[in-house]
Amino acid sequence: MNAIDPAGQKVVVGIDGAPDCESAIRWGAAEAAARGAGLHLVHAFVWTEFRVPVGPSEAAPGLRAYADQIVAEALEVARKFAPGVPVTAERVDGFPAPVLLAESRNAGLIVIGSRDAGRALGLLVGSTGLELAAHARCPVVAVRPNEDAVVGSRVVIGYDGSAAAAAAVDFGLEYARRHELVARIVTVRAEDDDHDLTAALRAREDARTAELIEVTGHPAELLLEWSADAQLLVVGSRGRGGFAGLLLGSVSQTMLHQAPCPVTIIPRSAVGGPEAR
Ligand SMILES: Nc1ncnc2c1ncn2[C@@H]1O[C@H](COP(=O)(O)OP(=O)(O)O)[C@@H](O)[C@H]1O
Ligand SMILES: [Mg+2]
Repeated sequence: MNAIDPAGQKVVVGIDGAPDCESAIRWGAAEAAARGAGLHLVHAFVWTEFRVPVGPSEAAPGLRAYADQIVAEALEVARKFAPGVPVTAERVDGFPAPVLLAESRNAGLIVIGSRDAGRALGLLVGSTGLELAAHARCPVVAVRPNEDAVVGSRVVIGYDGSAAAAAAVDFGLEYARRHELVARIVTVRAEDDDHDLTAALRAREDARTAELIEVTGHPAELLLEWSADAQLLVVGSRGRGGFAGLLLGSVSQTMLHQAPCPVTIIPRSAVGGPEAR
């Protein structure tokens, strides 16, 4: 157990009612079971933010009733996949990002879905996912629409020596232990970088059983290559480089959009205290 992955805190799944949110519910239910934690399903009900009627009319049961149906169906799916897990579900008024950001303060993990936008565009994590990955107070997992297609045997962690990447190592090693998977920690060096990026890593007692891979080249490309057999990929929201104003680094964004397996982002805002670097 460690600060970024505390035992016992609930796993929260954001549900929007789209058919592909079922894989997020399934993943969240399995992870809650593995952690011995509760599962909480949250549906953000955006319509109260607009001037539209949300109650029933003579013609239709109304938007609020439809949202309640999404919540009830999600609850049923979760109970089916994780019969032993305590599950709760609720409709919360507001836009998805602020609703889920508020949830992240008391969650061990937030799980969201992603859309399959076809081969050309990759897997699209929407604006809610990007905002969570940048600002959440706990790790965020973007699950893919067709989980059955991916059966990797590794937890792959991207490590560039930054604090967020060290937290990604904490999370990834703990996940590997819990699921009896091999952890692989990948560090991609630039040709001209002579920093010893992995010194802190090699000194870690808990990383001794992990595969440590150090390669030279393009970070995002190589991380994707080394994740081909990943069941889960873990990275920080930011790394060592990039522009100070960016909320998500280019490597973490590429992983969110391109990796075929579920991706965990450790937001810098979840790594102890203020979001500022
Ligand atoms: N060279 C690298 N090798 C391995 N992992 C990396 C590398 N660069 C970034 N990562 C991973 O991606 C995360 C985000 O970093 P990045 O997107 O590069 O942000 P920044 O622009 O702040 O450097 C890091 O926390 C780390 O997990
Ligand atoms: Mg970087």
